[in-house]
Amino acid sequence: MSQAVENALPIIPSIKDPSPKKKIDGPYLSVTQSLGLEGEVGLAGAKNATLVIMTSLILTAGRSVLRNVPASDDVFHMIQLLQGLGAQAVFNTETNVLEVDTTDLSGYSVAPELMKMMRASVLVMGPLLARFGKAEIGFPGGDVIGARPIDYHIKNFQKMGVDVHEQPDLLVARVRRLQCRNLLLEYPSVGATENLIMLATLTGGTTKIINAALEPEVFDLIAILKQMGARIDTEMPATIVITGVEKLHPVDYTIMYDRMEAGALLTAAAMTGGYVHIPQAPAHLMGMFLMKLQEMGHTVLIGKDGVGVKVKATKNPRAVSIKTGPYPAFPTDLQASMMALLTTAQGVSVIKETVFENRFMHGREMTKMGAQIDVQHDVATIRGVEELYGTHVIASDIRASCALVLAGMKAIGETTISGVYHWKRGYEHLEEKLRSLGASITLYE
Ligand code: EPZ
Repeated sequence: MSQAVENALPIIPSIKDPSPKKKIDGPYLSVTQSLGLEGEVGLAGAKNATLVIMTSLILTAGRSVLRNVPASDDVFHMIQLLQGLGAQAVFNTETNVLEVDTTDLSGYSVAPELMKMMRASVLVMGPLLARFGKAEIGFPGGDVIGARPIDYHIKNFQKMGVDVHEQPDLLVARVRRLQCRNLLLEYPSVGATENLIMLATLTGGTTKIINAALEPEVFDLIAILKQMGARIDTEMPATIVITGVEKLHPVDYTIMYDRMEAGALLTAAAMTGGYVHIPQAPAHLMGMFLMKLQEMGHTVLIGKDGVGVKVKATKNPRAVSIKTGPYPAFPTDLQASMMALLTTAQGVSVIKETVFENRFMHGREMTKMGAQIDVQHDVATIRGVEELYGTHVIASDIRASCALVLAGMKAIGETTISGVYHWKRGYEHLEEKLRSLGASITLYE
């Protein structure tokens, strides 16, 4: 990194004496320094595959069984949403088995307050339009990591013969005459790709989604749809080809493991100078992330057939630079935890966030802990420091909450984190898994 950047970075005096402990309102996480995490831990099912797969059940009429479903709050929110449409749902959080019966689905409108709970709620649009020819939904909520418009969804629904009217709080969509089309996406949006695939499964003829998102979670959706009887193929360049069928049937399906949870746990090993094994980690889907850990000097061992990862941390982690992007580029959902890791690496790292325009809020919180981070638009420059210091910080979204927990495990003293709501939305008791590896972390509710 050029001398110019080195000199440009403001010298921030290191924070020696953490602020006295103040009473924290509401639930919070407390983390104290936890070095040398060690052991083996299992993974939950992938949140972002589970949520879209739950909406895809609207395309069938009958009882489906989903296995390896994470008991995270967003899953409970989606169950509520499906029940609001008339589905029966039974979730055994011990076995992570979710049964959903969509026989008596009657509704096609979702209340704004339910939509506001998470972004994935917008993924009911495609299935509702395919099943009922109608959908009335509030605007989706979710992490405030950017403007997050849904114009790619709407524009392409319109190309497929759907009329969409935007009212102040409501989107009213009606099928005029469904028709298969070649749809070119301006950006490989995960959500838009998933919504359009689901509508196209029951649309006569062949629909092509060009410049489609190729995230592993999209392919987990494609796998269950094919098991339901859908006809879906892929072709170059980045094109998903769907040939409509008359009917789809309920299934019994096991959801993929969560590569983002795996990434968080492996980063915890690297952050604390530990040695952790995750037998279920889908290494074959985590290439860019694992490569960056290796570039830092950490030892990464991958299991047979690309399943299972062991990380043995180096004592002298080197600075690296990352650029997030659509799969298989570096996943934006691991950017925050990677930033935490780079705060104490030797040298200057640069992170370029290309997917969301406002996804560096965790950086501001880490500077309260003594990190040296300079954010200019979509670029964060991190100068590695010797130590971090515990203090009170605020999580602004799911992945930020995880990053602050990781920083807290490295920091001297106690770190308290509010905004626990996000942590619980994204992870199934991740604090317990970290504790099983030796972390000192407590969730106060
Ligand atoms: C999915 O969000 C994930 N959420 C996100 O994970 C993930 O960060 C993201 O994909 C990228 O990998 C779920 O699967 C539920 P996009 P999604 O549509 O579908 C812009 C987490 O932490 N865009 O690929 O919302 C958009 O604003 C979450 O688990 C439009 O402009 O992502 C963004 O800048 C956070 N118009 C970019 O494209 C549109 O119509 C990528 O968004 C749609 C998207």
